[in-house]
Amino acid sequence: MLFGYFDDENREYVITRPDTPLPWINYLGCQAYFGIISNTAGGYSFYRDARLRRLTRYRYNNVPHDFGGRYIYLRDDESGEFWSPSWQPTRHDLEDYACRHGMGYTIIGSRYSGIAAHTNYFVPLDENLEIWQLSITNQRSKRASLSVFSSIEFCLWDAQDDATNFQRNFSIGQVEIEDGVIYHKTEYRERRDHFAYFACSGKVEAFDTQREAFVGAYRSWDKPVALERAGLANSVAHGWAPIGAHQVKAELAPGETRQIIFVLGYHENPRDQKFDPPDSQTLNKKTVKPVIAKYLDSAHAGAAFERLHQYWDGLLGICQVETPDVHTNRMVNIWNAYQCMATFNMSRSASFYESGIGRGLGFRDSNQDLLGFVHMVPARARERILDLAATQLPTGGAYHQYQPLTKRGNNEVGSNFNDDPHWLILGVAAYLKETADRSILDEPVPYDNEPGSEQPLYEHLRRSFQYTLDRLGPHGLPLIGRADWNDCLNLNCFSDTPGQSFQTTTNKDGKVAESVFIAGLFVLAGKELAAIARERGRNDEAEGYLAEVAKMEDTVRKYGWDGDWFLRAYDDFGRKVGSKECGEGKIFIETQGFCVLAGIGLDDGMAAKSMESVRKHLATEHGIILQQPAYSKYYLELGEISSYPPGYKENAGIFCHNNPWVMIAETRLGNGDRAHDYYTRINPSAREGISEAHRCEPYVYAQMIAGPDAPTHGEAKNSWLTGTAAWNYYAITQWILGIRTSYERLQISPVIPKSWRGFKATRTFRGVTYHITVEQEGEGNHVSLKVDGMPIKGDTVPPPADGRKEVSVKGTLT
Ligand code: BGC
Ligand code: NOJ
Repeated sequence: MLFGYFDDENREYVITRPDTPLPWINYLGCQAYFGIISNTAGGYSFYRDARLRRLTRYRYNNVPHDFGGRYIYLRDDESGEFWSPSWQPTRHDLEDYACRHGMGYTIIGSRYSGIAAHTNYFVPLDENLEIWQLSITNQRSKRASLSVFSSIEFCLWDAQDDATNFQRNFSIGQVEIEDGVIYHKTEYRERRDHFAYFACSGKVEAFDTQREAFVGAYRSWDKPVALERAGLANSVAHGWAPIGAHQVKAELAPGETRQIIFVLGYHENPRDQKFDPPDSQTLNKKTVKPVIAKYLDSAHAGAAFERLHQYWDGLLGICQVETPDVHTNRMVNIWNAYQCMATFNMSRSASFYESGIGRGLGFRDSNQDLLGFVHMVPARARERILDLAATQLPTGGAYHQYQPLTKRGNNEVGSNFNDDPHWLILGVAAYLKETADRSILDEPVPYDNEPGSEQPLYEHLRRSFQYTLDRLGPHGLPLIGRADWNDCLNLNCFSDTPGQSFQTTTNKDGKVAESVFIAGLFVLAGKELAAIARERGRNDEAEGYLAEVAKMEDTVRKYGWDGDWFLRAYDDFGRKVGSKECGEGKIFIETQGFCVLAGIGLDDGMAAKSMESVRKHLATEHGIILQQPAYSKYYLELGEISSYPPGYKENAGIFCHNNPWVMIAETRLGNGDRAHDYYTRINPSAREGISEAHRCEPYVYAQMIAGPDAPTHGEAKNSWLTGTAAWNYYAITQWILGIRTSYERLQISPVIPKSWRGFKATRTFRGVTYHITVEQEGEGNHVSLKVDGMPIKGDTVPPPADGRKEVSVKGTLT
């Protein structure tokens, strides 16, 4: 069964029934103010940091799954009947329900009892607020007397504290109401300079700000007691649970349409101008009022929506492709790029599977996210790189996560994930290849945010590389530390205590367990660092890095090869992990994909053998599994990986993040058919037809699809915030379609399926738009290029010497 369809023209996914297998969500906002919104208007909003500045409350792990959100109710004041046009929370049998998730906006609408209503939810660019633009039409043959109710529940800012510290929080809630605008100012009187507001363009008949007055003591949002009364109670919250609810009357003649705008926002005042009058405790509203007035005006709201559209036209226009495969086109041109923006913004912090409390921005994750984002807003990528580097430690190691608001490393999670430092090199390399902005390498960046410790970014990269050289194990392979890319391969953890975190528990000194994966990563990062050194004219240094890389490649060949595939690791007893000698977990995907994409074994047959083993042992119709056979019991010496039931997550789930490593590896061997086949197996659009089994959104990647060892093989979980987004985008655009950035120029080196006659693409790179046509004339992957009709040597396109901004490139594959 389908739950909707793609409207590619409008860049929307249109959900046509509200009871999707899971909440199918979208993100509002892409700069500083964000919201998560489900197809039934569930979700919450925050400013910059989902933990520390949360505006509205949301209860995770609830029943039903998605409850609490931006709810609007309509009430027929004659019959008293009320419903919600977004289905939740009242769950009426709606007609014409549709939720259009688009680029930074979501429109949810329906018809009930002759009243059509839809709401466009979006966040204007450069503002810290969200707009709900509601339009109601009376399709009855007679007049309709309606009341419209808005409702949100305020979170008391720190979402962790909000969910746990009731003994205090039930006493601190504070609001002000002025001209129908509800201001939420809990804790403002002491140390906060920020407040939230909720405003409405209609004439506010009444309001409620105390949850109990609106919902009722023993009710829920699906049947608020207030809607059974004539009007809201004008309750003023003191402590307990502050909410915002407005009531607006709408008298509509047959055929008449009425628009009402609601604005929910975040505002900060300068510390010395918090109150008005200054010696009072009353909010100073001088600077916020004009903002509110502006967006309650439908002309301004409309213009802001138009600007948002144009913004996305610009971002997506940077890379557009036209291939024979609709799923490739749709993902590259619209949804995959869009998801890359979300992962860049959120890292792994806030989704319907990430609470916004548990994790900040991951060092490893955010660096990888740059691969799919850097071409869209390079200036923000630059800032992110510098922020990440500033959390690096003087040893070259890194805090595993940091909070976006404070930009400080999270002490609770700490460091010692020994792969982390190398991702910084790859992130910087991606940035340099896209922008050629070498000045970033000279930026002074502190270690651990310690003033006075600043060194040029380039020095940080050198320390990243050195970090591994300082931590080699008995075979000369990198020591794994707490874990490498696979957070669940915890070879120094040895945890037998219930409730202990696998991520932070270390019971071994870490001097034995080694990671072949980090070796592959080191090889790739070392090659990039050498290229960066050359860019800086430091050829000797570059030679030094390459010598270390060559040594590591030898070590991998000697101690990291199992005969038919790359080993995964050595455990704390020096025993092999990911070997045919193992009882379970004989072959892992990570080292196959990463060693080959790093170039190991391309000329001695190892790479080809490794890929053959992946095909034979790991590839399924739903994607490539992480390892086989799945661990059927808990292995103290392996950690969290063996804590998952077989087929889920790292224990033989299809971890979509590393599937593109194999795709890239296949392109390095010239196998376009295999690469694109693997691409298609996990492409969410290509899986739309099995939505009932897949369950997650068909427009974005999920972190995991259950493997064949699980009873639900093919079921996706943990959608949206996953490195899968960036890596798939990178694999399809730069390696399969082969439109690849390099330090010097744009390279065109496609490795595509043999059945394709070719494809077209436009790519704007360093200010020049390349109109690319590729035709396949032979069986091979050799490309001959013509630039503006003139044949050129090699597969890289020289930028136009005469300052032209448009170039046509024709590639022929033979
Ligand atoms: C998950 C990993 C994740 C880790 C980080 C584990 O429980 O299985 O996928 O990387 O937590 O918090
Ligand atoms: C999700 C984490 O965010 C990521 O950092 C890690 O590499 C994968 N899980 C694999 O464990």
